[in-house]
Amino acid sequence: MAGTDEKPGTAVDGAIEYLRPRLAVTPVVAIVLGSGLGRIADRCSGSRAIPYADIPGFPPCSVDGHEGKLSVGDWGGVPVAILQGRAHRYEGHSLEVVTRPIRALALLGVRTLITTCAAGSVGKSVPGDLLLIEDHLNMMGDNPLLGMADSLSGSSRFVEMADAYDPWLRRTAQEAAAETGIALSQGVLACVPGPSYETAAEAEMLGRLGAHAVTMSIVPEVIVARALKLRVMGLAVLTNRAGVRLDSRVGHQAVVARAEGMAQAIGFLLSGVLRRLKAASLSDGGGETPSA
Ligand code: HPA
Repeated sequence: MAGTDEKPGTAVDGAIEYLRPRLAVTPVVAIVLGSGLGRIADRCSGSRAIPYADIPGFPPCSVDGHEGKLSVGDWGGVPVAILQGRAHRYEGHSLEVVTRPIRALALLGVRTLITTCAAGSVGKSVPGDLLLIEDHLNMMGDNPLLGMADSLSGSSRFVEMADAYDPWLRRTAQEAAAETGIALSQGVLACVPGPSYETAAEAEMLGRLGAHAVTMSIVPEVIVARALKLRVMGLAVLTNRAGVRLDSRVGHQAVVARAEGMAQAIGFLLSGVLRRLKAASLSDGGGETPSA
């Protein structure tokens, strides 16, 4: 579980020391690519992919569809760090371990986190939807900040989570989606520990609680990112109906295949968001979220 009395950064010192001399640019935006979305990283130029296995303290990825590589380079004039794949709580890692890549990148200069995942649809949303995350329900029964001596930001143990998904970035994503003709809905993502999928009753319960989708990731990253005062944007690719059998191909393979089918649209959308971030001079590592 989370390291007791851990000082901010301690567990990621080795990763920072390893990465700093190997980065051609200082990344200001981190993008996490979830199941089946890894090839979006091809849009990043001038990058050399570094396997997580080579980075001290980075957890390995053991799940299909998660390559486990970090690419740092340029995407539309913005220096980005792309995490192709992530480790999950259900692989047996603590949330302190799962969130180390976010902490390391924040300490290296990242100020904005754009995170993506595959998710099951709940309530009125349907498979095939692309969901801009408006808010979340942490149903993991765990929190990556548990056991920290102080919050990662050093200012308060009690991290503010209202408006965790930055309103300016959400508006920007909506504009970029409209420009590229991508249908983007907005809603609440529930996060469960997994690895079992939901029963029909659990999916029904999550819908009644206000969720539009359910996943096994993202939320720990977002909590840590907010503790470190990063701006956050999240996208969920709805790959299946939660609580219903995946009948065509079995389970996770079908989830990955459906996410892969939506990777191109997400790549266009992210290009539009990064262009706007650059124009708003937000990608230089400083400044407040504009009220535009
Ligand atoms: N439930 C939880 N996580 C998921 C699902 C689901 O149905 N689909 C993709 N990730």
